Amino acid sequence: MALQASILPSAISVHKEGKLNCLIKDCSINGAFVSKSVKSDFSPLLIGTKELKRKQLLGPIRAQTATVAPSVNEAAPDGKKTLRKGNVIITGASSGLGLATAKALADTGKWHVIMACRNFLKAEKAAKSVGITKENYTVMHLDLSSLDSVRQFVDTFRRSGRPLDALVCNAAVYLPTAKEPTYTAEGFELSVGTNHLGHFLLSRLLLDDLKKSDYEQKRLIIVGSITGNTNTLAGNVPPKANLGDLRGLAGGLNGLNSSAMIDGGEFDGAKAYKDSKVCNMLTMQEFHRRFHDESGITFSSLYPGCIATTGLFREHIPLFRILFPPFQKYITKGYVSEEEAGKRLAQVVSDLSLAKSGVYWSWNNKSASFENQLSQEASDAEKARKLWEVSEKLVGLA
Ligand SMILES: NC(=O)c1ccc[n+]([C@@H]2O[C@H](COP(=O)([O-])OP(=O)(O)OC[C@H]3O[C@@H](n4cnc5c(N)ncnc54)[C@H](OP(=O)(O)O)[C@@H]3O)[C@@H](O)[C@H]2O)c1
Repeated sequence: MALQASILPSAISVHKEGKLNCLIKDCSINGAFVSKSVKSDFSPLLIGTKELKRKQLLGPIRAQTATVAPSVNEAAPDGKKTLRKGNVIITGASSGLGLATAKALADTGKWHVIMACRNFLKAEKAAKSVGITKENYTVMHLDLSSLDSVRQFVDTFRRSGRPLDALVCNAAVYLPTAKEPTYTAEGFELSVGTNHLGHFLLSRLLLDDLKKSDYEQKRLIIVGSITGNTNTLAGNVPPKANLGDLRGLAGGLNGLNSSAMIDGGEFDGAKAYKDSKVCNMLTMQEFHRRFHDESGITFSSLYPGCIATTGLFREHIPLFRILFPPFQKYITKGYVSEEEAGKRLAQVVSDLSLAKSGVYWSWNNKSASFENQLSQEASDAEKARKLWEVSEKLVGLA
């Protein structure tokens, strides 16, 4: 049993010829591309490890919070009733976790969701397809792979006249099979440029708007992942996240006069995604250290569970995408539906019992939330400070 999780990555493999093998120890799902070499990230396969094993690996759970339906604040700090709906911006709300969270919040009738998406039409269709009623959402264009677009989005949002009560940095790209780096408009490697730098600029600019909110609960949430945490089995599947001394990031991540990887190493698409998630979790904590006391804003991150059906895995080969969901459902038992994951993130946005700042939330197999522990690197305060400073320079804030 103790070995169960460690052999999970080997449990299904696809050879180059396309034949399916089960329970072959030295192969992996990503072995479909590099036999015997776990080159890419399939670590979500490991997420279904039994609760007991998980507790052993993650260390003690610091607090356990019963899950309740998302709630909304009814009183402003001065004691006056806040009758208006809350306004929440969710990036990447056109699919997967973001869409499910938009739906969960909009369905309460207490939130207006600003769906911050790069594909306007897709977002509109997605909102309609899940039945979000028109008065509960607005689509606004945002392409996180362009800093100009981020600034334009902030301008458009401000011109809408809406106050901002919660910001959810959810969008992400994951390019596990990429052989060569691709780049954002400003020339940053795409995964880190989009998932981290785009969100960094967005959240830095919108911090002022959040500060002005008269809502009792003001929240800034940056979605993290278990795959960036090397204190978990999943986070130990190569290539592991590692920001090193940030020399690649400091050099501009442009693949020309600097590496396209944060640590200055060779490009690896799966690692770039994991690194970006470490950046997300470090950024949340640095926000907490710098601004929580002064602003009262709750800064949070989370791992919502393995949502094996989302578009995040779109760059994987088709057979992976077919096998991954049933593998998670029936073998690892780590599967979480988009609907359930959306409810979890909605709790982090609005549940009064999840108001503590600086927390990385997770859920146990009874769907109860708890404060999880981050890996050493993902909780390294000195690295978070350096990441903040380097990122400020790259996005033009310093
Ligand atoms: N799926 C999982 O098992 C899992 C596990 C842990 C954490 N997460 C995290 O959950 C979050 C959501 O992922 P997901 O699984 O829901 O994947 P998803 O369905 O692919 O959603 C990603 C969203 O990001 C958007 N996006 C990508 N690039 C963008 C850009 N340049 N500008 C604006 N939006 C952009 C996508 O827009 P388009 O619709 O236009 O492509 C899409 O709406 C991510 O932060 C991911 O790291 C997921």
